[in-house]
Amino acid sequence: MNSLLESKVIAILNRKGQSVNTRLQEVCEMLKAEISYYDWVGFYFRNGDKEELKLGPYAGAPTDHTIIPFGKGICGQVAVSNANFVVPDVSAQDNYIACSITVKAEIVVPLFVNGKNIGQIDIDSNTSDPFTEADERFLEFVNLEVSKIL
Ligand code: SME
Repeated sequence: MNSLLESKVIAILNRKGQSVNTRLQEVCEMLKAEISYYDWVGFYFRNGDKEELKLGPYAGAPTDHTIIPFGKGICGQVAVSNANFVVPDVSAQDNYIACSITVKAEIVVPLFVNGKNIGQIDIDSNTSDPFTEADERFLEFVNLEVSKIL
């Protein structure tokens, strides 16, 4: 991951004239366009006080999974574990919610505000085993920057 992408993230998030949702949408679209193996990029956020996630801005194919209960799927597990979840091969996961048959791998990184896990960034890839620690560090950076505008 490179510093040019980091600068692009910061530039988008700093557009104070745009709504938070518009800026997050632009971040999703930019990441999907710039990183060849990012085929679906989206944010999920805790739905009020409910034990469930609600889909926020995303780029890629529409998904039926706009609400995900805590504990369910990769996303729901990250909502309770507070830890990154890197899945090199989604077919090897029992607790997985398929969004598209083309998806081979997934990474989910929690988003913290004041130390509280309030959501996550979720990336699906049509490439097998594409994610490295560089993706984890980069997505942690993205979420930290996003947390500053929430
Ligand atoms: N695969 C996710 C569901 C969300 S979609 O990837 C957009 C999961 O197992 O939680």
